[in-house]
Amino acid sequence: MPALVLLGAQWGDEGKGKATDLLGGSVDYVVRYQGGNNAGHTVVVGDQKYALHLLPSGILSPDCVPVIGNGVVVDPAVLLSELRGLEERGVDTSKLLLSGNAHLITPYHTTMDKVSERFLGKRKIGTTGRGIGPTYADKINRVGIRVQDLFDESILAQKVEAALDQKNQILAKLYNRRAIAAEQVVEELLGYADKLRGYVCDTTLVLNDALDEDKVVLFEGGQGTLLDVDHGTYPFVTSSNPTAGGACTGSGVGPTRIGRVIGILKAYTTRVGAGPFPTELFDEDGEKLRAIGGERGVTTGRDRRCGWFDAVIARYATRVNGLTDFFLTKLDVLTGWERIPVCVAYEIDGRRVDELPYSQTDFHHAKPVYEMLPGWSEDLSGAKTFEDLPKNARDYVKALEEMSGAPVSAIGVGPGRDETIQINPFL
Ligand code: IMP
Repeated sequence: MPALVLLGAQWGDEGKGKATDLLGGSVDYVVRYQGGNNAGHTVVVGDQKYALHLLPSGILSPDCVPVIGNGVVVDPAVLLSELRGLEERGVDTSKLLLSGNAHLITPYHTTMDKVSERFLGKRKIGTTGRGIGPTYADKINRVGIRVQDLFDESILAQKVEAALDQKNQILAKLYNRRAIAAEQVVEELLGYADKLRGYVCDTTLVLNDALDEDKVVLFEGGQGTLLDVDHGTYPFVTSSNPTAGGACTGSGVGPTRIGRVIGILKAYTTRVGAGPFPTELFDEDGEKLRAIGGERGVTTGRDRRCGWFDAVIARYATRVNGLTDFFLTKLDVLTGWERIPVCVAYEIDGRRVDELPYSQTDFHHAKPVYEMLPGWSEDLSGAKTFEDLPKNARDYVKALEEMSGAPVSAIGVGPGRDETIQINPFL
């Protein structure tokens, strides 16, 4: 059975938690391959609501092994507190597997994230302040600390000292901050070693063996396509690769082993943090989307910027991820509009442009070209099949599908686990 990838097709927060959880019951392994606790999934199980930041949402399914791959950056304090929180609510977390090659977010990474954002002032990225960018920067600079370093005290001390030698200069001389003592960081990190040891293994080996044994392996992307450091709206992006290729590098599973790439697509668009967003609304419609859609960040509590559906972005996501399917979420939020605008192309400096421009300047100048689709007023939450949807809602989905370049295989019509219409099975 080839592996599946589930990823955000827009700027993140498309409702991936629900999609992963929907599959969780029939999936043997759910793998996170990039990002860290900058992500946030809300999963509703019965009357319980879970907010997960670092753990794969498959942790809520009893028969599923959750895996944190090598491409993830792990804040050990956050990981342990998330595990504890779930255990207190009766969730079995003992099956978690953590790659020994994943990089650790340390207190100095979080500090660097915050001070550098402050230093950027008007030009700031609007990061989540969780230390994500500085940790990936250290990884690429080859001065990072990995999970496996926790188990060799002398190596850990040498690596932390080397990293801080440099960083303390920057903190003191550039940002006018106090230096961070290496011994203190080492002591804190060593305090996590025994608590994490039991989860750590060679996840690459485990996952490839699982695929050899015909197990179902699901890769769960954090953030979204347009936040990808290579393919997103750089520099207003996260520091990892949420796109499909990231599933391979972030897990050690080769591309030939992946059979299906499912893009999670919200029926409208949202974005958190700074950066261009052509269909953003600054009026009552935007407020209404935010209120009805509950568009507030799970991780940061920040209000999300809201706008209409952008088919140019959806097409782009199909292209750079090789999407085979879409999971269209939050269709119910659009109930009650007489007409729903959908962005079909951009106007850039007087020209019509049908594909996402690769030039940052062009994208900043892009104005949406809208097509108006008829809305509906019926409640969608009870719909079990595509045919149960009102005609205008069906037409809306069909139009989006045609514009976006991949079939819509599932539709979310409410936040609950069972409020989903499955059109084509994913497995
Ligand atoms: P960072 O990932 O904290 O470095 O933040 C970089 C950019 O990615 C900022 O614009 C964040 O708001 C955005 N971002 C990071 N994680 C998420 C997410 O899970 N959903 C939506 N936006 C995110």
